[in-house]
Formats: sequence, structure tokens, C-alpha cells
Amino acid sequence: MTEEKKEKAPIPRVRVGRLGEHLGETVEIAGWVYRLRSKGKIHFLLVRDGSGIVQAVGVKNQLGPELFDLVGGLTQETSLYLRGSVRADSRAPGGVEMDILDVEVVQRSKDYPITPKEHGVGFLMEHRHLWLRSRKQAAVLRVRDEVIKAIRDFFYERDFACVDSPIFTPAACEGTTTLFEVKYFDEKAYLTQSGQLYAEASAMALGKVYCFGPTFRAEKSKTRRHLTEFWMVEPEVAFATLDDVMELAEEMVSYIVARCLERRRPELETLERDLSKLEKVKPPFPRISYDEAVEIIHRRGFEDFPWGEDFGAPHETAVSEEFELPVMVHRYPAQVKAFYMKRDPERPEVSLCVDMLAPEGYGEIIGGSEREDDLETLRKRIAEHDLPEESFRWYLDLRRFGSCPHGGYGLGIERTVAWICGVEHLRECIPFPRMLYKIYP
Ligand code: 4AD
Ligand code: MG
Repeated sequence: MTEEKKEKAPIPRVRVGRLGEHLGETVEIAGWVYRLRSKGKIHFLLVRDGSGIVQAVGVKNQLGPELFDLVGGLTQETSLYLRGSVRADSRAPGGVEMDILDVEVVQRSKDYPITPKEHGVGFLMEHRHLWLRSRKQAAVLRVRDEVIKAIRDFFYERDFACVDSPIFTPAACEGTTTLFEVKYFDEKAYLTQSGQLYAEASAMALGKVYCFGPTFRAEKSKTRRHLTEFWMVEPEVAFATLDDVMELAEEMVSYIVARCLERRRPELETLERDLSKLEKVKPPFPRISYDEAVEIIHRRGFEDFPWGEDFGAPHETAVSEEFELPVMVHRYPAQVKAFYMKRDPERPEVSLCVDMLAPEGYGEIIGGSEREDDLETLRKRIAEHDLPEESFRWYLDLRRFGSCPHGGYGLGIERTVAWICGVEHLRECIPFPRMLYKIYP
């Protein structure tokens, strides 16, 4: 190698989130203009690259007039390469700043629609494809990614196998009122409402399994807690009882929260989340029966709430306000629950089921149960729910060949992310939300 070549070592490309490892070095970042502020002969340029935001400072007499004007004319969301030296600055986010040496524009962005001023949520939703670039939205997506990774790690460490369920299905799992029907060649099919029934089959093969995928429900109501397409993780365990299901659920939720606190603190701080509330989330969680929950509901201003009905959002909030931790409400009236749930042999009017309600009014994040494992009882339930037995032939086989007690639950990813992030509405907890009459972008 000649001397000359040695001197011209290329400038390394570094992610903004890792600039702290390059103090005193000259590096290149590739990203987009977030904001530009200028004060006389100094430009303060905020550049984001998806891993973080860094302030790059350009002083006129160091940049020269041409480069100084170029930086001064940079518009929001212009893509660029920026080269500069990295310096510690304790006041800056991430603890670093850059001094600009050179800027190369990739594409000049004109009239970016989302400006630093306040926008209505309708406008932002129409521009969801761009809104994702905002600091808070990007932080929610990072937390979502962490939640998903934590779930996969949690199950992997405990010897569960991920066995995914199909999305096209011939029958309903969670009631017939929210089915999305699709044409499947010459037949009718439905988009899955839950992978559970197939997870039960997988559990009989592998013992401990989970499925994780998108699920679909034609929710006709507009609430902040409902999407028509949401992601659900559903563990299913052979020989598990309701108590086992509850233990697994509280362990998993505590694991997810601990992981987010460990690895996503900056994002949670960006979201101004009260972390002291999350730090309390450790097992055991309180467990109360539906009957006890009804007493709380009566005491908290819904005197007329009748035993036997399912809880609405205000009732769930009333119950969860009694506790600092997620609360597990078990043994709901069988009449409001799904056909596959096993009844309590001591009290056949209630199911061996559990809902986990998140604190701070975030509502139900988990629904689960022990499953009916007796062939004849299950056939009766299918008939009672007006479901076509023919479509469940395979499911009934599971009760014919080595049936055993088993159970599991489903955790809604977006509801969990909403609670952990302290975000009001589910629409901000999935990259491209699908809701009643809303499918753009
Ligand atoms: O309580 P659900 O309906 O339970 C089931 O689907 C069971 N088959 C799960 C199982 O036992 N394997 O739904 C489970 C969770 C809810 O607690 C909630 O977190 C989420 O899925 N969920 C929704 N999230 C967003 N939008 C909707 N429309 C949702 N419906 C349910
Ligand atoms: Mg439920």
C-alpha cells in the first residue's frame, strides 16, 4: 500500500445512536433533517437517522460562505450525508453533538406536510406514512419491537416452540359477529380471529407452544381500544390448569415490562412515561373473581351493573383503579364467554377463564382460559353457540385422541404497547392501523 492511500482512510458511516462510541472522531451519518435553527452566524441542525437525533453545529467562519448557505437552506426531511467530528455535550440528548465539516444533499424535500406546529389527529392519520418519522411515533415503534423480542425470548427461554396458526380459516373462534369473510376459491373462508384452536392442536404435538400473528375482527364500534387488525401472541400448554395459565401470564407481562425498562428507557422518557408505575410491575399480580370485581364496580358508582354481563371499558377501568398492578379477574359467567372454555366443576355457571386488566385504565390486555377437554361437552357447546360442527371436526379429534387438561391465553400486542408507552389510543401502537372504515394509507 502506498503512503498516500493509507492517509485517505474512508470516513466511517455511524448510526446516530452509536455516536457516543466515536468521541473525537470524524464520522459520516446518513439521515434526514429534523429541524434547523439559525442564530446569526451559527446553524443548529437536528439530523435523525432512525436510531436517534443529533444536533450538528455549523459556524460560518469554519464552513465558509457556500457550505454555510447550503446548510441554512436545508428543509425539513431533506435526506443527506453529513460528515463532522463528534464531541461530548452533556446537555445534548445522547450526550453528543457534531461539528459540521461537510454536507451532501441526497434529495431536497419540499413542503413536508407535518411541521413542528400542532396538527389534528385526522390529518396525522391521513399522513401516517410520514407521521412515523416523528420522535414520539418512532419511540412507540421501538418499544413495540422490544415487546415482541421480549415475548419471543421469554418463550424460547422456557422451552416453548413457536408454531404459527393459519390466517385463512373455515370457522369462527371468538363469536360470529366480528368475522371478516373472504372468498377462498369456491369456498367461503374467514380471516382468523385468533390462532388458539390450532395452537391447541400444536400443544398436543409439542407440549408448550405459542403462535404469534395478525388477527382480524370486524369491530363495528369506534373505540380507542379496538383495531380491526391487531397482533396477538397466544401460548397454549398441555396439562395446564387455570392457575398455571395465570402464573404464566403474570410472569410474561412482568418480563416484558422489565425488558422495556432495561432497554427502552430513552424511548419511554421521550414519551414522558411515568416509569415509577412500570417499575412496580412484578409478580404476583392480584387475582380476584368476577364476583369480587362486580362488588368493586357496584362500589365505584355503577350500582345497577347486573351479575352475568360482560364488562365494558368503564367497568374495567373502575376495577383496575383499585390496583397498582395488572389485575387478573377469573371465573366470568360462562354466558358471556367463548364456547371452548371449560366450566368450573364447582360452579358450572362460570368459566375457568381469566382476563388481565392493565392498570391506569388501559383495560384488558389478556384473555385466556382452561379449555373444555371432554368430547361430548364440547360438542354440546358448539351446538349451543350455533356453530357448524362440521368445521370443528378436526378440533373435536383433539378430545378423541389423548385429550388432557390444557389452557392458554392471548395477549394483544397493541394494548400492551399502549399501556407500557402510556399512549391513549391503539392507533399509535401499530405502524399502519386498520379501523372501522379506515384502510388508508
Ligand atoms: O380475549 P380475546 O378475544 O381472546 C382470544 O382471542 C382467545 N382465543 C385467546 C386465547 O386464549 N388464546 O383476545 C385476546 C386479547 C385481548 O385481551 C386484547 O388484548 C386483544 O386480544 N384484543 C384486541 N386488541 C385490539 N383490537 C381488538 N379489536 C382486540 N380484540 C382483542
Ligand atoms: Mg377478551
